[in-house]
Amino acid sequence: MRIAVLASGSGTNLQALIDTLHLSESEPVHIALVLSDRPSAGALRRAREAGIPREVVSAREYATRDAFDEAIGASLDAHGVQLVVLAGFMMILQPAFVRRFAGRLLNIHPALLPAFAGADGIGDAIRYGVKVTGVTVHFVDEGVDTGPVVAQVPVFVQADDTEETLAERIHAVEHRLYPAVVRAVAQGRVRLEGRRVRLDSGEIRWDVIAT
Ligand code: GRF
Repeated sequence: MRIAVLASGSGTNLQALIDTLHLSESEPVHIALVLSDRPSAGALRRAREAGIPREVVSAREYATRDAFDEAIGASLDAHGVQLVVLAGFMMILQPAFVRRFAGRLLNIHPALLPAFAGADGIGDAIRYGVKVTGVTVHFVDEGVDTGPVVAQVPVFVQADDTEETLAERIHAVEHRLYPAVVRAVAQGRVRLEGRRVRLDSGEIRWDVIAT
Protein backbone atom coordinates (compact mmCIF):
# COMPACT_ATOMS: atom_id res chain seq x y z
CA MET A 1 0.00 0.00 0.00
CA ARG A 2 1.26 3.44 -0.92
CA ILE A 3 1.09 5.78 2.05
CA ALA A 4 1.94 9.43 2.71
CA VAL A 5 3.21 10.65 6.05
CA LEU A 6 2.32 14.24 6.97
CA ALA A 7 4.56 15.74 9.67
CA SER A 8 5.37 19.22 10.98
CA GLY A 9 8.08 18.35 13.49
CA SER A 10 11.09 16.21 14.22
CA GLY A 11 9.60 13.11 12.63
CA THR A 12 10.55 10.37 15.06
CA ASN A 13 7.30 8.56 14.27
CA LEU A 14 8.08 8.89 10.58
CA GLN A 15 11.48 7.34 11.31
CA ALA A 16 9.81 4.38 13.04
CA LEU A 17 7.57 3.90 10.00
CA ILE A 18 10.60 4.08 7.68
CA ASP A 19 12.67 1.63 9.73
CA THR A 20 9.92 -0.87 10.51
CA LEU A 21 7.87 -0.84 7.31
CA HIS A 22 9.32 1.11 4.39
CA LEU A 23 12.81 -0.40 4.46
CA SER A 24 11.58 -3.96 4.79
CA GLU A 25 10.61 -5.76 1.60
CA SER A 26 8.36 -8.20 3.39
CA GLU A 27 6.13 -5.39 4.70
CA PRO A 28 3.04 -4.31 2.74
CA VAL A 29 3.78 -0.57 3.11
CA HIS A 30 5.64 1.84 0.85
CA ILE A 31 6.04 5.48 1.90
CA ALA A 32 5.40 7.26 -1.40
CA LEU A 33 5.55 10.79 0.00
CA VAL A 34 6.49 12.78 3.09
CA LEU A 35 4.69 16.11 3.20
CA SER A 36 5.23 18.97 5.64
CA ASP A 37 3.86 22.47 6.15
CA ARG A 38 7.25 23.52 7.58
CA PRO A 39 10.37 23.64 5.42
CA SER A 40 12.58 23.18 8.51
CA ALA A 41 10.81 20.03 9.75
CA GLY A 42 13.21 17.27 10.79
CA ALA A 43 10.82 14.88 9.08
CA LEU A 44 11.89 16.24 5.68
CA ARG A 45 15.54 15.54 6.47
CA ARG A 46 14.66 11.99 7.49
CA ALA A 47 12.73 11.53 4.22
CA ARG A 48 15.68 12.82 2.20
CA GLU A 49 18.06 10.45 3.96
CA ALA A 50 15.75 7.54 3.18
CA GLY A 51 15.34 8.60 -0.46
CA ILE A 52 11.60 9.21 -0.07
CA PRO A 53 9.93 11.95 -2.19
CA ARG A 54 9.10 15.00 -0.07
CA GLU A 55 7.06 18.14 -0.47
CA VAL A 56 6.43 21.32 1.46
CA VAL A 57 2.98 22.89 1.35
CA SER A 58 2.93 26.14 3.37
CA ALA A 59 -0.43 27.41 4.58
CA ARG A 60 0.55 31.04 4.11
CA GLU A 61 0.83 30.54 0.36
CA TYR A 62 -2.89 29.80 0.13
CA ALA A 63 -5.77 32.26 0.54
CA THR A 64 -7.99 29.79 2.41
CA ARG A 65 -7.55 26.68 4.48
CA ASP A 66 -9.58 24.73 1.95
CA ALA A 67 -7.17 25.82 -0.81
CA PHE A 68 -4.27 24.65 1.38
CA ASP A 69 -5.96 21.27 1.84
CA GLU A 70 -6.64 21.01 -1.88
CA ALA A 71 -2.94 21.53 -2.58
CA ILE A 72 -2.17 18.71 -0.18
CA GLY A 73 -4.81 16.52 -1.84
CA ALA A 74 -3.35 17.21 -5.29
CA SER A 75 0.07 16.20 -4.07
CA LEU A 76 -1.29 12.97 -2.55
CA ASP A 77 -3.04 12.17 -5.85
CA ALA A 78 0.11 12.86 -7.84
CA HIS A 79 1.96 10.27 -5.76
CA GLY A 80 -0.82 7.66 -5.90
CA VAL A 81 -1.34 7.72 -2.14
CA GLN A 82 -3.91 5.27 -0.73
CA LEU A 83 -3.55 5.95 3.00
CA VAL A 84 -2.65 9.21 4.76
CA VAL A 85 -0.75 8.93 8.05
CA LEU A 86 -0.54 12.03 10.24
CA ALA A 87 2.53 11.97 12.47
CA GLY A 88 2.84 15.23 14.36
CA PHE A 89 1.12 17.24 11.62
CA MET A 90 0.11 20.42 13.42
CA MET A 91 -2.42 21.77 10.90
CA ILE A 92 -6.11 20.91 11.31
CA LEU A 93 -7.47 19.52 8.05
CA GLN A 94 -10.84 20.89 6.99
CA PRO A 95 -14.08 18.83 6.70
CA ALA A 96 -13.95 18.56 2.88
CA PHE A 97 -10.49 16.94 3.03
CA VAL A 98 -11.46 14.68 5.92
CA ARG A 99 -14.58 13.48 4.07
CA ARG A 100 -12.56 12.79 0.95
CA PHE A 101 -10.12 10.60 2.86
CA ALA A 102 -12.66 9.09 5.27
CA GLY A 103 -11.39 5.75 6.54
CA ARG A 104 -8.01 6.39 4.90
CA LEU A 105 -6.68 9.03 7.30
CA LEU A 106 -4.91 8.04 10.54
CA ASN A 107 -3.53 10.11 13.42
CA ILE A 108 -1.49 9.33 16.53
CA HIS A 109 -2.12 11.20 19.76
CA PRO A 110 0.04 11.10 22.93
CA ALA A 111 -2.82 10.48 25.42
CA LEU A 112 -5.74 8.13 25.93
CA LEU A 113 -8.49 9.90 23.99
CA PRO A 114 -11.00 11.33 24.68
CA ALA A 115 -8.83 12.56 27.57
CA PHE A 116 -6.36 15.34 26.81
CA ALA A 117 -7.21 16.04 23.19
CA GLY A 118 -5.45 18.99 21.59
CA ALA A 119 -1.91 20.16 21.03
CA ASP A 120 -0.35 19.28 24.42
CA GLY A 121 -1.64 15.86 25.42
CA ILE A 122 1.45 15.03 27.49
CA GLY A 123 1.70 18.34 29.38
CA ASP A 124 -2.05 18.40 30.02
CA ALA A 125 -1.95 14.88 31.50
CA ILE A 126 0.98 15.76 33.82
CA ARG A 127 -0.70 18.98 34.99
CA TYR A 128 -4.01 17.19 35.60
CA GLY A 129 -2.23 14.63 37.73
CA VAL A 130 -3.56 11.44 36.12
CA LYS A 131 -1.84 8.19 37.08
CA VAL A 132 -2.35 6.57 33.68
CA THR A 133 -2.14 8.14 30.25
CA GLY A 134 -0.95 6.60 27.00
CA VAL A 135 -1.14 6.59 23.22
CA THR A 136 -4.11 6.51 20.84
CA VAL A 137 -4.17 5.79 17.10
CA HIS A 138 -7.44 6.84 15.51
CA PHE A 139 -9.10 7.55 12.21
CA VAL A 140 -9.54 11.27 11.67
CA ASP A 141 -13.05 12.67 11.53
CA GLU A 142 -14.21 16.27 11.31
CA GLY A 143 -13.50 17.06 14.96
CA VAL A 144 -10.15 17.53 16.70
CA ASP A 145 -8.91 14.15 18.04
CA THR A 146 -12.47 12.76 18.04
CA GLY A 147 -12.33 10.05 15.35
CA PRO A 148 -12.89 6.28 15.76
CA VAL A 149 -10.20 4.66 17.91
CA VAL A 150 -8.12 1.91 16.28
CA ALA A 151 -5.67 1.17 19.11
CA GLN A 152 -4.77 2.43 22.57
CA VAL A 153 -1.91 1.57 24.89
CA PRO A 154 -1.62 2.79 28.49
CA VAL A 155 1.50 4.38 29.96
CA PHE A 156 1.69 4.74 33.75
CA VAL A 157 2.69 8.10 35.18
CA GLN A 158 5.42 7.77 37.84
CA ALA A 159 5.46 9.97 40.93
CA ASP A 160 8.68 11.68 39.88
CA ASP A 161 7.84 12.04 36.18
CA THR A 162 8.46 15.34 34.45
CA GLU A 163 6.96 16.19 31.11
CA GLU A 164 10.26 15.10 29.54
CA THR A 165 10.54 11.69 31.20
CA LEU A 166 6.89 10.90 30.53
CA ALA A 167 7.24 12.04 26.91
CA GLU A 168 10.19 9.68 26.48
CA ARG A 169 8.11 6.62 27.52
CA ILE A 170 5.10 7.75 25.48
CA HIS A 171 7.22 8.22 22.36
CA ALA A 172 8.78 4.78 22.81
CA VAL A 173 5.27 3.29 22.78
CA GLU A 174 4.28 5.40 19.75
CA HIS A 175 7.25 4.15 17.77
CA ARG A 176 6.15 0.55 18.20
CA LEU A 177 2.41 1.05 17.99
CA TYR A 178 2.09 3.23 14.89
CA PRO A 179 3.94 0.89 12.49
CA ALA A 180 1.89 -2.06 13.82
CA VAL A 181 -1.39 -0.23 13.20
CA VAL A 182 -0.35 1.00 9.74
CA ARG A 183 0.67 -2.58 8.87
CA ALA A 184 -2.73 -3.91 9.98
CA VAL A 185 -4.55 -1.26 7.89
CA ALA A 186 -2.37 -2.05 4.86
CA GLN A 187 -3.17 -5.74 5.28
CA GLY A 188 -6.87 -4.87 5.09
CA ARG A 189 -7.47 -6.17 8.62
CA VAL A 190 -9.03 -2.98 9.96
CA ARG A 191 -12.75 -2.38 9.42
CA LEU A 192 -14.71 0.68 10.41
CA GLU A 193 -18.27 0.05 11.63
CA GLY A 194 -19.66 3.40 12.64
CA ARG A 195 -17.50 4.52 15.55
CA ARG A 196 -16.28 1.00 16.29
CA VAL A 197 -13.10 -0.26 14.68
CA ARG A 198 -12.90 -4.03 14.21
CA LEU A 199 -9.98 -6.23 13.34
CA ASP A 200 -10.42 -9.14 10.94
CA SER A 201 -8.93 -12.45 12.03
CA GLY A 202 -8.91 -11.60 15.70
CA GLU A 203 -7.90 -8.84 18.03
CA ILE A 204 -4.30 -7.67 18.19
CA ARG A 205 -2.67 -7.23 21.61
CA TRP A 206 -1.49 -3.69 20.93
CA ASP A 207 -0.17 -3.41 24.48
CA VAL A 208 2.09 -6.42 23.93
CA ILE A 209 3.30 -5.08 20.58
CA ALA A 210 4.01 -1.64 21.98
CA THR A 211 5.87 -2.46 25.17
C1 GRF B 1 3.88 12.64 18.70
O1 GRF B 1 3.94 12.68 20.10
C2 GRF B 1 2.47 12.39 18.25
O2 GRF B 1 1.72 11.65 19.17
C3 GRF B 1 1.90 13.80 18.16
O3 GRF B 1 2.96 14.57 17.68
C4 GRF B 1 4.20 14.00 18.08
C5 GRF B 1 5.08 13.90 16.88
O4 GRF B 1 6.40 13.59 17.20
N1 GRF B 1 0.75 13.81 17.30
P1 GRF B 1 7.46 13.24 16.05
O5 GRF B 1 7.55 14.43 15.11
O6 GRF B 1 6.97 12.01 15.35
O7 GRF B 1 8.75 13.02 16.77
